[in-house]
Amino acid sequence: MVTEEQVREILSQTEDPFLHKTLAETNGIIDIKIKEEKQHVSVKVALAQTGTPEQLQLQMKIVEALKAAGANTVGIRFTDLPEEELAKHRKTQGPQGGEDLLSPNSKTTFIAIASGKGGVGKSTVSVNLAVALARLGKKVGIIDADIYGFSVPDMMGIEQRPEVRGEKIIPVERFGVQVISMGFFVDNNAPVIWRGPMLGKMLNNFFTEVEWGELDYLLLDLPPGTGDVALDVHSMLPRSKEIIVSTPHPTAAFVAARAGAMALRTEHEILGVVENMAYFESKKTGEKEYVFGRGGGDKLAEELRTEVLGRLPLQQPDWNEEDFAPSIYAEDHELGQIYQEIAEKVIRKLEQ
Ligand SMILES: Nc1ncnc2c1ncn2[C@@H]1O[C@H](COP(=O)(O)OP(=O)(O)OP(=O)(O)O)[C@@H](O)[C@H]1O
Ligand SMILES: [Mg+2]
Repeated sequence: MVTEEQVREILSQTEDPFLHKTLAETNGIIDIKIKEEKQHVSVKVALAQTGTPEQLQLQMKIVEALKAAGANTVGIRFTDLPEEELAKHRKTQGPQGGEDLLSPNSKTTFIAIASGKGGVGKSTVSVNLAVALARLGKKVGIIDADIYGFSVPDMMGIEQRPEVRGEKIIPVERFGVQVISMGFFVDNNAPVIWRGPMLGKMLNNFFTEVEWGELDYLLLDLPPGTGDVALDVHSMLPRSKEIIVSTPHPTAAFVAARAGAMALRTEHEILGVVENMAYFESKKTGEKEYVFGRGGGDKLAEELRTEVLGRLPLQQPDWNEEDFAPSIYAEDHELGQIYQEIAEKVIRKLEQ
């Protein structure tokens, strides 16, 4: 026979996974109900962040503890702690580290780069936008959230591996950008064979186990489509902004609209659309050829009620042997310039 006092006692000692304080300290116990005849306990708990893998872990822990205390069945609902309560716990937090990055009062703006279809240039846009923001003096990090199809280290020409200091992983810095990728933890380009739940955990580790330091922007290069990782990002980063990348081809734009719709549904603000591979310009005649069609970016932006942040033509970066980074455009390259303009627009939009 479990009593309300026992339930309250158990919950009181349970820690909020984000504030690292007990639910008693955070006033996180909202409601306790017990149906005596069935020994059904239902509780409502407020957390600093909901819809996270941590919440799921906590849920399992509470169910286990309540059942051990005699409950037959347990129902748990979660809600967000009110802003006033969060404010009380703010000052006592340590310097900006992984966990604080995810905390509701983090100063870092997350920007997820998404697309519907694969191969439209998400990763290219992510790395170049990150470098462009850093060239403008911002503190920038990038997470290669494409756990299976990681490509950021190669694109940026990164050969070293991150250092481990104490219990934290130190991101690799390249062109002024802090980088973390699954590629750093895999031997010799071996395939990553993990199932869904592991993915969310890995992504979470990229936040909590990594010493990011202070960041203005943390970009996330998402895998294509609206799969598990994209969903995890949506639930882990409730305030993330999004940039949708598409080619001008109608099919690509149509599929990208789905990624955009997912962002809208989770209330992620869409900063805009980047139209990649927008055209090919002949070096000889200066004539533009719209190899992948025209108008996809505009149509997509209209559909998502946002703007086109920039249009990138087809062109390779200039490669050099000493500082090889196959996908990074130099600042004075035509595309490097377009990326600077996109970065300036992004900053203006976010600082408004
Ligand atoms: N504007 C461009 N001009 C020329 N090549 C480009 C351009 N943008 C991207 N590419 C090339 O197209 C290929 C796909 O780009 P990228 O890997 O960035 O796409 P992605 O959307 O991240 O792909 P995935 O869905 O596989 O993650 C790469 O080889 C890249 O170098
Ligand atoms: Mg990619």
